[in-house]
Amino acid sequence: MISIPAIKPNRPIGVFDSGIGGLTVLKELVELLPGEEMIYLGDTARVPYGVRSPEIIVRYSEENVLFLMNFGVKLIVVACNTSSAIALPKLQKKFSFPILGVVEAGARAAVETSRSGRIGVLGTEATVRSGAYSKYILSLNPRARVTSVPCPLFVPLAEEGWVGDKVARLTAEHYLRDLKARTPDTVLLGCTHYPLLKGVIQEVMGKKTRLIDSAVETAQEVKELLDRTGLAREKDSGRLRFYVTDNPEKFRRVGQRFFQRDIPKVSKVSLR
Ligand code: DGL
Repeated sequence: MISIPAIKPNRPIGVFDSGIGGLTVLKELVELLPGEEMIYLGDTARVPYGVRSPEIIVRYSEENVLFLMNFGVKLIVVACNTSSAIALPKLQKKFSFPILGVVEAGARAAVETSRSGRIGVLGTEATVRSGAYSKYILSLNPRARVTSVPCPLFVPLAEEGWVGDKVARLTAEHYLRDLKARTPDTVLLGCTHYPLLKGVIQEVMGKKTRLIDSAVETAQEVKELLDRTGLAREKDSGRLRFYVTDNPEKFRRVGQRFFQRDIPKVSKVSLR
């Protein structure tokens, strides 16, 4: 168990992801908690995590936490769904300060939203294989019927900005065909990139299907945790710092679309 000396309210919040996608989570965090100072790490040298083995995902995630600990963070948000699904329990065991993922908040919102109990989960291959979302949904509602669908091509489509055209539509139709036939009333976007494809996913699934964005739910959970534990900042800062393990320029360029704000400066770091 690795612990940090004392957690203080005016320390920053650390956020990490396998790359750019976690900026959709950071965006929600900044909107809900504008006074907090946040440090974002995108492991762009080793993205994607979604196709990797559990051992590698755990190792990379631990290295990300160790990097963020250098800043004396008071809390870490694992913005990456793949890391949250696979590595979070191990991280929480290893480090003795608050680490939050995106899976529980998203799953809880899906269960609360669904009337029929038929819930779809979209994610990377590794996230779907882990079964983390469906396990958590079933622990909250044992009668739920969960259908999980890996949608790997959504990641490059979101990064290329092809989110509203024919290619996106055909890809979505292909991935969602079987899920749609099961008539879920709620579909969880269990990957950092999928909120960018919300429009086309909604179109294909139909107006009646409710889409749940893990990022929004997670930001809410972080706020509640800070309030509950007395860790909310006393003095407003709003300072944001961005670190990546490769290609800071690309991160800045593509990232602005995910973050929907300007990203002034990105520093390249080595985690070793
Ligand atoms: N950030 C990942 C997730 O949310 C998607 C990209 C990747 O595969 O690394 O699952």
